[in-house]
Amino acid sequence: MPDQKTFYITTPIYYPSDNLHIGHAYCSVAADTMARFKKQEGYDVYFVTGTDEHGQKIERKAKAKGVTPQEYVDEIVAGIKRLWQLMDVEYDDFIRTTDERHVKAVQKIFRQLYEKGDIYKGDYEGWYCTPCESFFTELQLVNGCCPDCGRPVEKTREEAYFFKLSKYQQWLIDYIETHPDFIQPVSRKNEMVNNFLKPGLTDLCVSRTSIKWGIPVDFDPNHTVYVWVDALSNYITVLGYGTEHDELFRKYWPADLHLVGKEIIRFHTIIWPILLHALGLPLPKQVFGHGWLVLDGVKMSKSLGNVVDPVVLCNRYGSDAIRYFLMREMPFGSDGQFSYEALLKRINADLANDLGNLLSRTVAMVEKYFSGIVPVPGAWQEGDRALIALAEATPAKVCRQMSELQYSAALSDIWMLVGECNRYIDITAPWVLEKTDEGRERLQTVLYVLCECIRFVAVLLQPTMPRTPGRIYTQLGLTDANLHTLASLEHFGGLPAGTKVCKGEAIFPRIDIPKELADILPTPKAEPAPIAETKSAAAAQEAKPEAGDGSITIDDFAKIKLRVARVIACEKLEGSDKLLKLRLSLGSGEPERTVVSGVAKAYAPEALVGRQVVLVANLKPAKLRGVLSEGMVLFASEAADTLKFVTVDEGTQDGATVR
Ligand code: MSP
Repeated sequence: MPDQKTFYITTPIYYPSDNLHIGHAYCSVAADTMARFKKQEGYDVYFVTGTDEHGQKIERKAKAKGVTPQEYVDEIVAGIKRLWQLMDVEYDDFIRTTDERHVKAVQKIFRQLYEKGDIYKGDYEGWYCTPCESFFTELQLVNGCCPDCGRPVEKTREEAYFFKLSKYQQWLIDYIETHPDFIQPVSRKNEMVNNFLKPGLTDLCVSRTSIKWGIPVDFDPNHTVYVWVDALSNYITVLGYGTEHDELFRKYWPADLHLVGKEIIRFHTIIWPILLHALGLPLPKQVFGHGWLVLDGVKMSKSLGNVVDPVVLCNRYGSDAIRYFLMREMPFGSDGQFSYEALLKRINADLANDLGNLLSRTVAMVEKYFSGIVPVPGAWQEGDRALIALAEATPAKVCRQMSELQYSAALSDIWMLVGECNRYIDITAPWVLEKTDEGRERLQTVLYVLCECIRFVAVLLQPTMPRTPGRIYTQLGLTDANLHTLASLEHFGGLPAGTKVCKGEAIFPRIDIPKELADILPTPKAEPAPIAETKSAAAAQEAKPEAGDGSITIDDFAKIKLRVARVIACEKLEGSDKLLKLRLSLGSGEPERTVVSGVAKAYAPEALVGRQVVLVANLKPAKLRGVLSEGMVLFASEAADTLKFVTVDEGTQDGATVR
């Protein structure tokens, strides 16, 4: 027998925060779904997640709570593990960066790179905020002050170790160019190469003397290892790299897939590959940077207070419904809006109506017309053949989409089959067939085809929805595990006639959406009032002019956050001859924005694509013609119909502050 192929998949390791939100769960659910899919395909899968527990923030939070950092993280990590259990995220190992096995291996890695000359001692110069005990680079400062607390910072030096990133810059560019699958989606690859690698890498500061809660450098214990070097190494330390027991490492490394959010793809595709290469190790086959779940256009984040608790959602609607929504709602590489309304609509439309009704109608008909026994089918007719052909083609389509991490497209293919089954019921009208002998013969075929199609659907749903297929099998009476496998879908007709079905409860009860929304939404948010399309969003929120000459103070001006943004897409807003809808990028690590701008008469949409503009970034979002406009782009105006967009000098980074 040929060796079983291996598949090693990881999530990022999470910062221990009191409550992980649904955005965090997104990444783990995606990884778990992929792990289950690969197992279904017959791979020997190893799936790892964990927690990233060192650093100053943890140190401070623990202090504020009056506990040691270790006590602080221990409690939170237990909660994170409970969350994954609740969401059926079934990992093979959970690595904590405070684990002894990890600490020892990181120390060894650091020493090895030092001895090789890729890590050297130097001075780190940066801006230090004393109250926050944090270093910042020039670029991180906001108006010359600490980006966290807004207080003045001082230029400071500290002794530190550096890692020779610059030495490997060209090697990495060449590697990325010759391994097109390494960074996915392709847009992220271009961003890394053009925005980070080509402008030049500087050596990376990889130790701190001012941070105590970290892994000590064993040959110079005043220093602790930089958190990203510590964290990234988890992907190999969890496999026993650098120890006597490195069987897992030898079996599973290089990883097949690191799934990460787009804001941390930079660490995974620049620092991590160089670190591995310097250690003489092969690189992971792919790093996939997925988009964010955003709420009201802003990345969900605890500090912004716009988080949705996955525990609440799972307890209310069941983890399968939440997993389905996360994987279905948005294409995997893009950002997607979370809203309770969208979630509830999906549950009702896709799960309760399409899938739930299909199952309950079918099983009820088998019970009613054939005493609960799946009938023996007759010869296929034209209408059967089309549905059977679709069922037979669906597994391959789904597997292809899944292999490309197109979760949403895979689910949509499954739902195509569900939809066709429902249509088949409407067309064949079993309630009419059952009235005649000839019709009853035909009905045997119809109900057999339906039961078998539902079996196909259930098997294909297993990776995304680990619980629902079991409930479907129970209702269909499918106890034989051989009929739950992907291989059993190679041919239509695996379901044995004579199986006894058993009607159960609705697998997804319908939800009364208005009532549920009233119940679950903390405080119903008033939608921003629609404003006339001739007015800009800013004009609609016009600030009251100051007294006298209308002048404002520097503090007033400082309230306006101006940023450089790049137009990545632009189109006319349907139904308006004045408005354009612009999609803007603020560089990596930030959600894209949509802005509606009244400049359709001055610019054709394609003339703006690729250009840099200046965005009023903290303007309260407002709806224009039903589209949420998240900011305002600045245009110079000589007369009402001559608008010119304001831009910046070539080479300015997307996202830069304008001040
Ligand atoms: N500790 C680092 C990762 C180190 S990996 C060597 C970290 N942790 S995190 O807890 O902040 O984020 C973990 C993952 O959750 C990241 O992939 C991040 O992108 C993802 N998400 C956090 N908020 C998210 C959304 N709102 N939407 C989707 N994913 C999000 O980064």
